[in-house]
Amino acid sequence: MKIAIAADHGGFPLKPTILDAVRAAGHEPLDLGTFTPEAVDYPDYAKKIGDAILAGQAERGILLCGSGVGACIAANKIPGIYAGLAHDTYSAHQGVEHDDMNVLCLGARIIGPEVAKELVAAFVSAKFTAEERHLRRTGKVREMEKGNL
Ligand code: RB5
Repeated sequence: MKIAIAADHGGFPLKPTILDAVRAAGHEPLDLGTFTPEAVDYPDYAKKIGDAILAGQAERGILLCGSGVGACIAANKIPGIYAGLAHDTYSAHQGVEHDDMNVLCLGARIIGPEVAKELVAAFVSAKFTAEERHLRRTGKVREMEKGNL
């Protein structure tokens, strides 16, 4: 699976660990920056991830900022992007299995590299279960997105 990776300057120090963890899990990272420690704006990187997923260049994304919060807020403004901030492995896989989360947001100032590797492994190996109750709930989220609910 192709996984888009993007980070602002807050997430930048963790990005190499995430790229390696994606490769170690047998997937292919698509590095969308940032490529220097210079300050940038996290919504621009949320947009890069969203565009890559919606264009079919990547199936999922991992988005990094300092806390993971700004990145998550911005990513969820993009219709078709279902981002979650998960610093525990249960949420990192359950967010995919139940909620069809397609972007994992991480805070590079909150977690260290070893926890980050475990989170990446949990996220990329998880699959949406498509059970009836989850389809009903994710369907309601999609209706909310369209302004119908
Ligand atoms: C950047 O200083 C920081 O505000 C950003 O990376 C992120 O933590 C926002 O939620």
